[in-house]
Amino acid sequence: MVKICCIGAGYVGGPTMAVIALKCPSVVVAVVDISVARIAAWNSDQLPIYEPGLDEVVKRCRGRNLFFSTDVEKHVAEADIVFVSVNTPTKTRGLGAGKAADLTYWESAARMIADVSKSNKIVVEKSTVPVKTAEAIEKILSHNSKGINFQILSNPEFLAEGTAIEDLFNPDRVLIGGRETPEGQKAIQALKDVYAQWVPEDRILTTNLWSAELSKLAANAFLAQRISSVNAMSALCEATGANVSQVSHAIGKDTRIGPKFLNASVGFGGSCFQKDILNLVYICECNGLTEVANYWKQVIKVNDYQKNRFVNRVVSSMFNTVSDKKIAILGFAFKKDTGDTRETPAIDVCKGLLGDKAKLSIYDPQVTEEQIQKDLTMNKFDWDHPIHLQPMSPATVKQVSVVWDAYQASKDAHGICILTEWDEFKKLDFQKIYDNMQKPAFVFDGRNVVDVEKLRKIGFIVYSIGKPLDPWLKDMPAMV
Ligand code: NAI
Repeated sequence: MVKICCIGAGYVGGPTMAVIALKCPSVVVAVVDISVARIAAWNSDQLPIYEPGLDEVVKRCRGRNLFFSTDVEKHVAEADIVFVSVNTPTKTRGLGAGKAADLTYWESAARMIADVSKSNKIVVEKSTVPVKTAEAIEKILSHNSKGINFQILSNPEFLAEGTAIEDLFNPDRVLIGGRETPEGQKAIQALKDVYAQWVPEDRILTTNLWSAELSKLAANAFLAQRISSVNAMSALCEATGANVSQVSHAIGKDTRIGPKFLNASVGFGGSCFQKDILNLVYICECNGLTEVANYWKQVIKVNDYQKNRFVNRVVSSMFNTVSDKKIAILGFAFKKDTGDTRETPAIDVCKGLLGDKAKLSIYDPQVTEEQIQKDLTMNKFDWDHPIHLQPMSPATVKQVSVVWDAYQASKDAHGICILTEWDEFKKLDFQKIYDNMQKPAFVFDGRNVVDVEKLRKIGFIVYSIGKPLDPWLKDMPAMV
């Protein structure tokens, strides 16, 4: 019986291991973490992350062949295959600060594996890591191995939050990179045998280690680049009277471009895109590839520009000041169907509005007040360090209130900003909302979810990203 242990019970470790346990009943899977609270939540009815379909998968396997534990060393020692899915945040200080990946957690996990192992192991990089990390890990393991053989594989995860379970059940591809030696190939085959229990053989790709590591960074860079490209177009659409949805539809019909990931928005977020591009940029710079580094840097610059542009639109439309005005923020998570707020554009938009002294009333169906307050007070990049290393009791931002309903958030507000595309926002009774707001009443739709014409008929002044401008906004041009 194969024993798997996964270090890191987060957004990746939890769902991926639960699906392996479900699909491979003969494999025993232990997911371990240093965070006692996180493991307790995985063992309770209130899982630590919200992901459609996850509850059911966990309930079916937990206690059967899926276990969550804080006894990291015991489960690592017993495992044949050890996945490492710990955080790989952006470095906050020292060499490469603000760009390079901080491999502190990875390195300490590798040293611990070397310390406690008494049998040969396959160590799998599940976290997103810089190219050539496997080489460093190999060195740590082999210098401390006591004669034990470790094979390192790179098996980056491509799931998207919000559709993680669906993505894991039916992945576009599973990528496994390993050494081109007989031992390396044997290790690749062992991991392939696990995935082959539910993933068609032709979707399991095998490469060398460096290609697998780089493919993950490249995939995220390409995805983020697509969002920045359509967002750059949205600015031009607003300037020219074109409609970004029509442009996206027209270009998406080209089979070389394809229709997915072409929605203009207030900007991309999530724990990975920015972090992984910064990391890619740093690797390019270290290799003397300045032009390549600058090319990818621009993807992040356009994303920052898009968030600033949105804030400027809000402020300039409302007579160039939002001081003491109540603004409702609908949606705080970085996208719908997740409670994850890491790098959500809502943080920058809210901070921008607070900088102009607005009063914010925030509603998100999956994000708690504690999380929102924490996000609005935390320093850049601190969010991606393990919870026990984050500031203990964040200060609260007094101009922010968090409520549990969109109607309450918008009551007496001057404006509404829609920052997450939750389905429920499409079904709101906007007449009721309008009746309870200050006039003129504004809607700034950062996700293009509302029916602009319908809202204008009710009386709202509506800004929708990349759509022909409301006459009001034409008269109040933003500094963009
Ligand atoms: P996360 O922050 O949700 O989970 C990481 C967990 O590792 C935390 O619970 C932390 O307590 C634990 N940890 C850290 N050091 C540890 C140690 N030495 N021993 C035991 N546990 C330890 O992070 P998430 O989102 O799961 O990401 C993990 C990795 O996967 C990152 O490299 C990320 O870039 C990558 N990734 C994330 C995706 C996502 O959608 N969130 C998608 C694909 C890859």
